[in-house]
Amino acid sequence: MNAAIRAVVRTAHFHGVRTSGIMGGYDGLINGHFRELGPRDVSNIIQRGGTMLRSARSEEFRTPEGRAKAADRLQQAGIDAIVAIGGDGTFTGALKMSEEHGTKVIGLPGTIDNDLAGTDLTIGFDTATNTAVEAIDKIRDTASSHDRLFFIEVMGRDTGFIALRCALAAGAEYVLIPEKLQAIEELSTALYEGSRSKSSSIVIVAEGDEEGGAYTIARKVKERFDHYDTRVTVLGHLQRGGSPSVTDRVLASRMGVAAVEQLIAGVHGVMVGIVNDEVTTTPFHQAIGKRKQINEDLLRVLAILAV
Ligand code: F6P
Repeated sequence: MNAAIRAVVRTAHFHGVRTSGIMGGYDGLINGHFRELGPRDVSNIIQRGGTMLRSARSEEFRTPEGRAKAADRLQQAGIDAIVAIGGDGTFTGALKMSEEHGTKVIGLPGTIDNDLAGTDLTIGFDTATNTAVEAIDKIRDTASSHDRLFFIEVMGRDTGFIALRCALAAGAEYVLIPEKLQAIEELSTALYEGSRSKSSSIVIVAEGDEEGGAYTIARKVKERFDHYDTRVTVLGHLQRGGSPSVTDRVLASRMGVAAVEQLIAGVHGVMVGIVNDEVTTTPFHQAIGKRKQINEDLLRVLAILAV
């Protein structure tokens, strides 16, 4: 997110537009926590994880009263438009603000989940998956030295984009994602087949999988195949922090520039994305309303390579 903030502030400066940072997300907007930002205020942040503006999930902003307060604050501060960085919740709030108060908002897709339609990648996804794969590689050392079956749970809310990418990159034997209904029997059969030629296996489980979290799945498999020496690791929030990858820095920089230039051109009510290396815009209602599809070919590739 910092790389995006830097890009927004510097692009605005380049075009002679003033910017303020809204501190603490929508709560900060409701409470008028604004901080004027110039190009030097965003120095040395491109390499930092998190957000210099801080963030929060705001309950008050979900209410019409909260959004009315926010609109008043914007008017008092003379702010003409907002660049909102986030995912589903952020854009739902942005859409409501524009419908109820005519607020001009443009969105940047900032979520590790990569679950927004209208962009190939969301800001944070590449870094999160790199971090997760680094951890999984380390777990692999124990799995193979001790002949163990590991179930590793990754984030992704109700989608499996993180899980699928990590499974492929870490050479996992199997992946369980919410987009694909796989019975425990199917997993057990695959593991059984694999166990004839290898002694250790890694199964990546998306946190939102229908069969339950990694602990539940490990228990169910153990009930069927008692001989497995199973272990479970939940990677959790370590996937969300850390210095951003090159891909994320470049993505966020390009998107930040595009957001400001679109606003100057009079475009708002949309999310900026990058599709096939081209900057695009997608109306908020489509970005959040349309479910992004998993690339089935990645599942096929995983199955071929997991022999
Ligand atoms: O949406 C990003 C995400 O990291 C999800 O993958 C995860 O389910 C959720 O946020 C965790 O949210 P919190 O930090 O509020 O527990």
